[in-house]
Order: sequence, then structure tokens, then C-alpha cells
Amino acid sequence: MTQLKTHQDGIPSTPGKIKMDRSPYIHRLRWQFSLAKLTFWSCLFLGLILLFFLRSTPSSSSSSYSLSSGTDSTRRSLASTWGGPDWEKRVRDSSKIRSHNGISVLVTGAAGFVGTHVSAALKRRGDGVLGLDNFNDYYDPKLKRSRQARLERSGVFIVEGDINDSALLKKLFDVVAFTHVMHLAAQAGVRYAMQNPGSYVNSNIAGLVSLFEVCKSANPQPSIVWASSSSVYGLNNKVPFSERDRTDQPASLYAATKKAGEEIAHTYNHIYGLSITGLRFFTVYGPWGRPDMAYFFFTRDILKGKPIPIFEGPNHGTVARDFTYVDDIVKGCLGSLDTAEKSTGSGGKKKGPAQLRIFNLGNTSPVPVTTLVSILERLLKKKANRVMLKMPRNGDVQFTHANITLAQTELGYKPTTDLQTGLKKFVRWYLSYYSDSGSKKRSDE
Ligand SMILES: NC(=O)c1ccc[n+]([C@@H]2O[C@H](COP(=O)([O-])OP(=O)(O)OC[C@H]3O[C@@H](n4cnc5c(N)ncnc54)[C@H](O)[C@@H]3O)[C@@H](O)[C@H]2O)c1
Repeated sequence: MTQLKTHQDGIPSTPGKIKMDRSPYIHRLRWQFSLAKLTFWSCLFLGLILLFFLRSTPSSSSSSYSLSSGTDSTRRSLASTWGGPDWEKRVRDSSKIRSHNGISVLVTGAAGFVGTHVSAALKRRGDGVLGLDNFNDYYDPKLKRSRQARLERSGVFIVEGDINDSALLKKLFDVVAFTHVMHLAAQAGVRYAMQNPGSYVNSNIAGLVSLFEVCKSANPQPSIVWASSSSVYGLNNKVPFSERDRTDQPASLYAATKKAGEEIAHTYNHIYGLSITGLRFFTVYGPWGRPDMAYFFFTRDILKGKPIPIFEGPNHGTVARDFTYVDDIVKGCLGSLDTAEKSTGSGGKKKGPAQLRIFNLGNTSPVPVTTLVSILERLLKKKANRVMLKMPRNGDVQFTHANITLAQTELGYKPTTDLQTGLKKFVRWYLSYYSDSGSKKRSDE
């Protein structure tokens, strides 16, 4: 631009002279002018690209711990709006305690499988419940919307947002002094970690820290119960798995992020006096379940006549799971909330030692996956097209079996539903929710 100005200033004002010197001078002038134009448009173009990226990336103030590796809808939801008097009223109404000795609970992952059941159970007994979920598309978000619709009918409002959005979390604690947080939001699934490792770090590590940060600064601090996983036992082969067993050999990134969560929980308990209870769930199943889990997609594929891949361990070893019915898990969650002591800190300062617990929540009776398929065949009245495959080394373990003595003693946890009974309830729900062809029949039940 400076150069251009110099030459323009030097253009002779007499038209005749311009004519005389035309060819070499004008040619050079035109060239200089084009260069200036090119520079101008390039700057404008780069500026627009920069603006586009700044707008599509979550702002650092509202999501100080987030990584830009979530699913598309995670990013979309970060841009979603919240706040305003109507929104605050909905938050307050949903969180209102309606029973003597009730608690007010922020349930993260409330549109998820376990989150929906826990939220409904809390609401039923008169507790205040507010949900939070980013409705990501790890599996069909329509299923999450259907669960949301059901919860809304029972008076539970689910705020659409991300646990990495610390401004949103702070706002929620400004509006409601939650006594408890039931933290179930996470990137679940073992195999998907090989496709999208960033989503596990984003939700299970960064998101957990974001939540603990806000909880530690809240006044009063809530007590926190959160979902770890049986997958932390990893390559441990001493069965049944007890809370005292080693958990330093995770077999998947999912397991590693849950294990990291347990260590992070220890830190926040130690430094800030947060009361934290971690629950190691063992293969939860039931109505409104997760479509990425074997019992769910086996059902779909048996009905469609598609092959069912069944994994075998080395030397045709049985692969078995300690399948746990969702209502039993809910009882364990409620038992944990009810026995959780208060956090001891306030406004980010610890005042004394606080409770730190970890429990297995399983069924204590592992069932071979082949038996699971046989039960489904009987319930669906259709033979499965079984394909036996060697278990790939992509994060799955061969066997899970929970020792639940600690949860029995401390929480009064006692699972009562066997796999046959639980699957019967799941299949009944599945058939009423989906058509036999596997396509969605009803969106709001
Ligand atoms: N279902 C099981 O068998 C099982 C076993 C062990 C542990 N768990 C753990 O239990 C919890 C609940 O599992 P589930 O089976 O209900 O899974 P789910 O995927 O159905 O529910 C998780 C919910 O969290 C939401 N979510 C994910 N990341 C989020 C984020 N960053 N911000 C806000 N919301 C977010 C999702 O949209 C989803 O609705 C998870 O922590 C999971 O790791 C489940």
C-alpha cells in the first residue's frame, strides 16, 4: 500500500505527459496496482477464514478444559444458548425438593441410558433433579430425545450443554445450591476409542476436571457420586474383581480414562475436601439401553436375520460378562447418594478430611455371551445366525465378575434381577419401541 501511494503521488498531472510516457510507466503502474489489490483481497480472505474458525471453536472462557475433539454435536451444543428468566425458572422448578429430607441432584448424562433411569427414580421419590446432557451423536440422538421427552413428562428438565462448559456449570450452581451431583456423562464404549480417542479425553478427563473445578468452588460444595467402570480391572485375572485388586493395567483407552478419573477424584478429595464416591458399573443392560452394546444390537440383528459375531477367548475360551440389570444399578446409585457424607470444603478451601469411596456395582453371576444369545433367541422366537470369531485385541476383556461385598455392607446394595428376567423386560421394551424390522416406530415413548 505504501509503495502504491508513492507511485500514485508521482503520477504527472498533465494529461499530455501521461500520453507521452504511457507504455512502460502505465504497465508498471498497473502491475503495482494489481499486486496491491491481490494483497488486499488475500488479507480479507484470510481474515474471514480466521473469523470462521474463531466462531466455530468453543470459546476459552466458557470451556476452559475442552479439547476440540468431541463429536460434531458436542461442538454444536457448546454454541447452544442458555440463560434468561424462563430458563432459570425451569432450572429451579426441576431442582425443587418435594419430599421431607429430599436432596437436590444435578444429574449429568441425564439423556443417557443410566442417567434417564436414575433421574426418573430420584424424581419419583421427591428429590429435586436437574439433568445436563450434550445429546451427542455417538449413538442415535433420537433415542436420547425420546428419553428426554419421558423425563420431561415427569418434571425433569434436561439442560442441553457440555460438562466442559464451565460458565454454564457455574451458572447452574448460582441458580441452585445442589446438595449432590450424580455424574454419569461420559464417552462410553470400549471399541470406539480406536476411532475417536479425543472424545474420551474430552468427556472423561477434561470434562471431569471441569465439573470438579466448579463443584470445589461452589458454596456449599455438593457431594459427588460418579460412574467409573469395571473396565478399570483391565488385564487383572483374579476373580471375582474386588475393589482392592490392581487396576493399573487398562486394556482400552476408555478404561484408562476411567482409571484416570479415579485418580483425579482422589486429588480433588485430598486438596479441596470434596466428598466423592466412584461406582464401577458392570455391563448394565435393560429398557432404554445403549444401541452400541451387544445385547442391544444382537436383538436388532437377530430380528433382521443378520449374522451375530460372538467372540471367543484363546483356545475357544468362553467370553462372559457380569450383566447387571439397570434397576439394580439405580438402587446402587441412590444408595450411594443417600450414604454420601457432606463435602468439607467451601469456596475452594478444604476444612477437613472428606469421604472418598469406590464400589463395584455388579450382579456377581457372570453369564457366557453364548447363553445371552440363547436367551434372546427364546424371547424373540427366532434363531440367531451365530458367527464365532476370535476376540480382537481392541480393548475388550474375556471375563468380568464383581465382588460386591463392600457395596452390600456400605450401601445395602443387593441385585435382584437375573439375566433371563431382565432381558425379558428389555425385549418387551425393544419391540414396543422399534418395529420388527429394526426401524424406529415411535419417537416419544
Ligand atoms: N452402561 C454400561 O454398561 C456402563 C458400564 C460401565 C460404566 N458405565 C458408565 O456409566 C455412565 C453412564 O453410561 P450409559 O450407559 O448411560 O451411557 P450413555 O452414553 O447412554 O450416557 C452418557 C450420556 O452422557 C452424555 N455426554 C457425553 N459426553 C458429554 C459431555 N461432554 N457433556 C455433557 N453430556 C455428555 C451423552 O450424550 C449421553 O447421553 C458413563 O459414565 C459410563 O461410562 C456404563
